[in-house]
Amino acid sequence: MARITASVYTSHVPAIGAALDLGKSGEPYWQKVFAGYEFSKQWLRENTPDVIFLVYNDHANAFSLDLIPTFAIGCAAEFPIADEGWGPRPVPAVKGHPELAAHIAQSVIQDDFDLTIANRMPVDHGLTVPLSLMCGQPPADKFEWPCPVIPFAVNVVQYPVPSGRRCYNLGRAIRKAVESFDAPLKVQVWGTGGMSHQLQGPRAGLINREFDQAFLDRLIADPVDLARMAHIDYVREAGSEGIELVMWLIARGAMNDKLPRVAHRFYHVPASNTAVGHLILENT
Ligand code: DHB
Ligand code: FE
Repeated sequence: MARITASVYTSHVPAIGAALDLGKSGEPYWQKVFAGYEFSKQWLRENTPDVIFLVYNDHANAFSLDLIPTFAIGCAAEFPIADEGWGPRPVPAVKGHPELAAHIAQSVIQDDFDLTIANRMPVDHGLTVPLSLMCGQPPADKFEWPCPVIPFAVNVVQYPVPSGRRCYNLGRAIRKAVESFDAPLKVQVWGTGGMSHQLQGPRAGLINREFDQAFLDRLIADPVDLARMAHIDYVREAGSEGIELVMWLIARGAMNDKLPRVAHRFYHVPASNTAVGHLILENT
């Protein structure tokens, strides 16, 4: 049977993708961000899974305000890189895993979570920046991502957004689905977005280091309690875009019920307008 080996959590700041794509990653400002991922790239090379289940949010690129799925699972064989207004990032298209994705959709929908099936879904910085941070950035034409990826898009852009509790319970349903897939696959679940940031309005530029560090502590040690936090508290404490952090609870819910091993923890301010947080948790 398939099993979940580890979970990875990281912010997805688009300027990080631009820094990589434009050859600016050696600049002092960006060096401090990328330094936090040196361990992670080595760790991923040594712990390459068979599939990554990547929880992220689309930023009105695949889905416009015409159609807003709360949860959409990518079931295609390939996902093109979205054009966010400056042309698609020069990274390889993302290969999917249609068999596992269809199995997870079947299992999770039968467990009463309403997923939208996405058979065509361009993926934006929400998905590609975490991949670049963890896998590095060789040229697109000579490179493939290290394994298939199942993109799982969560609406955290247009209210109403799903609660942390629902996200955590969805993670548990995803774990059950993976563990009932009849092939010996090692699967990682990644939760992306966050940490504290607000891109708009009078509080634009908001960062809350204390909240972020406490969130990391609680995510590791007591996710059940963390999952009780109401969405309004994310917005109040972590800014309007801080709500992206509910996606981390999907990945955490997919881990087993034992205390995970913290393989890596990193926190840095600033990267663009965002506090960058990053964790690697291994199942014990
Ligand atoms: C920034 C962060 C985001 O999460 C995003 O989607 C867009 C911009 C930023 O910090 O600039
Ligand atoms: Fe974002």
